[in-house]
Amino acid sequence: MCGIVGYVGHRQALDVVVGGLRRLEYRGYDSTGVGVLDGDRIAWAKKAGKLTNLDAVLETAPLPASTTGIGHTRWATHGGPTDANAHPHLSPDERLAVVHNGIIENFIALREELEDAGYEFSSETDTEVVVLLLHRELQRQPDFVEAVRAVCRRLEGAFTLVFADAQSPGVVVGARRNSPLVVGRGDGENFLGSDVAAFIDYTAEAIELGQDQVVTITPDSVEVTDFHGAPAETTTYTVDWDVSAAEKGGYRWYMLKEIEEQPKAVADTLLGRLDPDGQLQLDEMRLSDDELRDIDKIIIIACGTASYAGLVAKYAIEHWTRIPCEVELASEFRYRDPIIDRSTLVVAISQSGETMDTLMAIRYARQQRARVLSICNTNGSTIPRESDAVIYTHAGPEVAVASTKGFLSQVVACYLLGLYLAQIKGTKYGDEIDVVIRELQRIPEGIQRMIDEGEQVRKLAAELVDRTSFLFLGRHVGYPVALEGALKLKELAYVHAEGFAAGELKHGPIALVEDGLPMFVIVPPRARDQLQEKIVSNIQEVRARGAHTIVLVEDGDDTVLPFADVVIRLPKVPTLLQPLVATVPLQIFACELAEQLGHDVDQPRNLAKSVTVE
Ligand code: M6R
Repeated sequence: MCGIVGYVGHRQALDVVVGGLRRLEYRGYDSTGVGVLDGDRIAWAKKAGKLTNLDAVLETAPLPASTTGIGHTRWATHGGPTDANAHPHLSPDERLAVVHNGIIENFIALREELEDAGYEFSSETDTEVVVLLLHRELQRQPDFVEAVRAVCRRLEGAFTLVFADAQSPGVVVGARRNSPLVVGRGDGENFLGSDVAAFIDYTAEAIELGQDQVVTITPDSVEVTDFHGAPAETTTYTVDWDVSAAEKGGYRWYMLKEIEEQPKAVADTLLGRLDPDGQLQLDEMRLSDDELRDIDKIIIIACGTASYAGLVAKYAIEHWTRIPCEVELASEFRYRDPIIDRSTLVVAISQSGETMDTLMAIRYARQQRARVLSICNTNGSTIPRESDAVIYTHAGPEVAVASTKGFLSQVVACYLLGLYLAQIKGTKYGDEIDVVIRELQRIPEGIQRMIDEGEQVRKLAAELVDRTSFLFLGRHVGYPVALEGALKLKELAYVHAEGFAAGELKHGPIALVEDGLPMFVIVPPRARDQLQEKIVSNIQEVRARGAHTIVLVEDGDDTVLPFADVVIRLPKVPTLLQPLVATVPLQIFACELAEQLGHDVDQPRNLAKSVTVE
């Protein structure tokens, strides 16, 4: 949600900043803007819409050469996506510029205060108060960095801010509370970015910033303090993916590339998890086995697709560990007074590690003394840093707004957690755990097969391109797959799509069925005969009412053939692993339908990759 870049060094700042914005555009694309130092003022350009609009502005009116600059790509919160609301926001004399991600919650009071002091506002944003406060502060005391700290102390809410001051060439200052900001360390140059993608073309050395910290970068130094100026300790790490991982690599869309990376994402997430004795080991687990043995309840919290990964995991975790497991939307969790204590394990699932609802939920959980374990794909991000333990998914950067490899690798990481708990609690024998691990290790082949057979689904999308409503049905772990299939279609194709537990059909949703309504049905493996039989009946019920049934069913199960208009074959895998293969054709379908409808697959309207406001 908003991408921020800052640069000081020996290169043309504009090139570095615009390049960084291109990589961060997935975070928001309502407007973009840049500012570079130009003598005693900041030269700037900003434009509503995607970065290509700003490119056009810069082509007709280039900014001057400079080695200090900042930039922003916006997901609108306060004020619509207009040129005036685009960042950077500037002081009246254009000496100061700021870019911002987050929400300044006390901006109305601050705005009134500044208006009383004679300031005029030129945007509807909450951000403008920040640059005007800084302007006023610098009249009281001349030190740029100290003035930034003083401003930060007055702000409430969530913010990442990056400032430039025309009177401080070669200096860029950043600050963060709750929203993400990472430092990139270069040689004679330094970078700030909402995430490492902003500077991965130049350096893989990154510094995590903690809460309520201010960072000052010059070409040769990085200095971090708290909001009162006390020096702060930092952790440096090396980014373990290279530039090519964040590039389209010849694919039309990042989403297509990321769908195809799923076999590897799953394999990498499983890699190195067994010790030489075949015992499951989780290296990043910072909770002791004794602490984990004390756990008597698990609550999984997450948003969107990550919450569906949690719903899948619940079936497996309860089955393997016999520990009650609930799944809850992070945005609801802390507002309902949940019953949690020291023996509750709260599992936060987040690809980005920055989702604000999830972050706030884990803070709440820790206040209530629960232990928090996160499942995350982004090293150095806030959620794992604030958790007691972490299991990283090794999916590599996920750039498309629609999560694909993130989802599959989250399910796998949750399964590893479930098996690990089963191992230390002794609820499963070692050889039973081995069997599951071996089946999991074979899953990338199954995923690959679904990718290779994608053409069938693409043709189906072409046939159904004029439909405006789709339903998805599943039972057991197929139910969250149905939810995920529907979510993908909503966010990419902007059509009505809903997922239901098949057993709920007759309790209402069947009234939606009319002639020709496309209905995807995920059939559980035949080994689960009761479940399988029930869903076959459900297919007959909707078919009898005119639904166009698209049935995902394992190889060799022909019981559904008389009632299926389209059959999508799945490899035979154990029930609990079926989501890992069944989700893939639904991703491909949504991607293709969106493409056929002429939508931007990677940057769907109104969305942003990482939702850093509540
Ligand atoms: O980064 P997170 O996993 O915390 O993100 C959670 C959701 O915002 C995310 O999964 C969202 O639902 C996706 N756009 C779905 O494709």
